[in-house]
Amino acid sequence: MRTDTPKTIHLKDYAPAPYAVTHVDMVVMLHPTQTRVETTLHIEVREAGKPLSLDGDEIEFISAHISGDEVHPVINETGFVLETPPLQAFTLSIVQICNPQANTALSGLYVSSGIFCTQMEAEGFRRFAYMQDRPDIMATYRVRVEAPKSLPVLLSNGNPLEAGDCGTERHFAVWDDPHPKPTYLFALVAGNLESVHDRFTTSDGRHVKLGIYVEPGKQDRCQWAMDCLKASMTWDEQRFSRAYDLDVFNIVAVSDFNMGAMENKGLNIFNDKYILARPDTATDTDYVNIERIIAHEYFHNWTGNRITCRDWFQLCLKEGLTVFRDQEFTSDLRSRAVKRIEDVKTLRARQFPEDQGPLAHPVRPSSYIEINNFYTPTVYEKGAEICRMLLTMIGREAFRKGMDLFFERHDGKAVRVEDFLTCMADASGRNLDHFAKWYEQAGTPVLTVATTFDQTAKEFTVHLQQDTPDTPGQTNKPPLHMPIALALIASSGKDLPLVIKENVSNQNGVLEIKGASETFTFQNVSERPVLSINRGFSAPIVLKSEATESDLLFQAAHDSDSFNRWEATQTCARRLMMTAYHQTSTSPIAFAEALRKTLQNPELDNAFKALSLQLPSEAELAAAINVNVDADQLHNSRTSFLKAVSGELVDDLQSLIDQTTDKHDYIPDVESTARRSLHLAALSMLARHDAMAAATQAEKLFGSAKNMTLEAGAIAAILSVEDTRVDEMLSRFYARHSDDH
Ligand code: BES
Ligand code: ZN
Repeated sequence: MRTDTPKTIHLKDYAPAPYAVTHVDMVVMLHPTQTRVETTLHIEVREAGKPLSLDGDEIEFISAHISGDEVHPVINETGFVLETPPLQAFTLSIVQICNPQANTALSGLYVSSGIFCTQMEAEGFRRFAYMQDRPDIMATYRVRVEAPKSLPVLLSNGNPLEAGDCGTERHFAVWDDPHPKPTYLFALVAGNLESVHDRFTTSDGRHVKLGIYVEPGKQDRCQWAMDCLKASMTWDEQRFSRAYDLDVFNIVAVSDFNMGAMENKGLNIFNDKYILARPDTATDTDYVNIERIIAHEYFHNWTGNRITCRDWFQLCLKEGLTVFRDQEFTSDLRSRAVKRIEDVKTLRARQFPEDQGPLAHPVRPSSYIEINNFYTPTVYEKGAEICRMLLTMIGREAFRKGMDLFFERHDGKAVRVEDFLTCMADASGRNLDHFAKWYEQAGTPVLTVATTFDQTAKEFTVHLQQDTPDTPGQTNKPPLHMPIALALIASSGKDLPLVIKENVSNQNGVLEIKGASETFTFQNVSERPVLSINRGFSAPIVLKSEATESDLLFQAAHDSDSFNRWEATQTCARRLMMTAYHQTSTSPIAFAEALRKTLQNPELDNAFKALSLQLPSEAELAAAINVNVDADQLHNSRTSFLKAVSGELVDDLQSLIDQTTDKHDYIPDVESTARRSLHLAALSMLARHDAMAAATQAEKLFGSAKNMTLEAGAIAAILSVEDTRVDEMLSRFYARHSDDH
């Protein structure tokens, strides 16, 4: 541990390295406490005469040679320095030793449960070998791994080249990665692992061998992960024309891993909870999470690996864009409406508090002390929102063209956010200079909406005012350029055609605002419409609107935009719960009536209906009250409102439960997943009004459930019911699953 003052790194101080490592030859002799790493770095000189610095941390230096001659670098706290390296291209061979067993930080090379494994992002490589450990140094690698035969599986990045014995006790494998990559994508795994295999043929005819490696005994939980991998490969070819580029793609699942998963080139490493699934050990939510993370790491192969970040300030370039891509993947495979709602829920629960609190920072920060603390919801989720806004503004076709340009221009390079934006600007013919502020400016913009209706002129006017609150280090912020999707809903429930005065361009109901205050007047509006604004959550903002309870009830029952339909339902429920908290009781009748419209609408899918039944949580209400929350009072108001709504909807709920009873074997597909989620959501809601009836049905469901979704869901649905049956179910659940980590 260091005791000196931490150093702040600034974006403005970026300078290209005077030397570039273009190829690495490596021999790794694995040993739990003394792993010997021999590296030969092929170095190009970019600025002759400068000292050569390599990063190194907690590794033992043994020796260094240049073209066979020993050299003596200065070894210090942060690495090594050669004062007078050769003036032209040269090779530098280094021998160093690291101690994987002592590596409890799980960064660099470590051993856990007998498996040797690496995690190099962001700056772990320097804990393994001396190297320029920065993402703009991209090199090809050839790696020979040597280990005792008690570690039968030896893996690294790229394609397998050679494998064999070294004597009777030890063996080796050689891996070759022809794609230049930064150090953070390096990976090495060795252990006693079992595997499942499959194959995939890419659109350009490459036969790829797929492998998933897990701890012995877990092979029967890999099928879903394999299916997800193939689905991800197919999707990236279809949606972005991105085909895989090696002969093998391997995934290793380990039980000790700091992150969810890591996108190392050709060798992704996962926390095993995001790989292993069997109907009796994983819920539908687990299945969906696995699908998403496998896709995310796989998609990094193009957004992150082939095109990487110039420096760590550009982290959102790979993470925001890849989150956006995995969101699109899930939206294409499952319900787009439900996915959008879930993503916004996460954004509001994780990113908004960050952006509105003391840790607020821009999507692309301008300085950091420790990069590992910058893998934040802002970089990831707000970063993805920026990509989504771009798509909304320039349209799907231009966005795709922009992505094509990005891959064409920057393949094999380490680039910046600006390079990405330039591609989008060139592809769309749009100026994105103002839009680029989203990357620099922290804080959640607040958009205040006011409307006026002129009956005689048949004009409806929308006034929009935006303001981004001050955040640490940033005050008096200029307005942002953002897309606002909106519609005017007539009393028939139909959207009116938008005729905007003064020829403001609007593409499919998307208005672009740039100023602090903007006004749009819509013509040919013969009755006061209900305004549905920021449809699909087109901009990641806080909306202050003057919508009345009756507007919201109308939207909850009629809005054709499912996001806003859901939003209106939630807002309405929240307001009613808050009224109950502050005053006395509220009537749930009108609300239940609007909710019934959703539950009975044959055009809305089951997953959406299930989401609609999940009304605002206590945490959400408490956040709205902010200070001096009376927790008991809040709990009681919410509970009595839910009970009353449930009472109104009893018949609807029971018929939904009956309609969605599982009759077949478990399949994790979209339809069955949605059906199960509605079944459980309806049962939970029913429990609010008729606890005993719900408990009886839950117990039956628990007893007959052949999968964990229904087994755990049955308990969850009645967890708040006071009944001995709940405790019995919990004990039985524990007895069945307590031996499975
Ligand atoms: N590159 C990251 C993993 C990572 C994060 C490495 C922080 C080092 C420091 C990976 O692509 C990632 O983002 N993983 C996420 C899951 C993903 C679905 C958002 C994770 O591990 O939580
Ligand atoms: Zn990622």
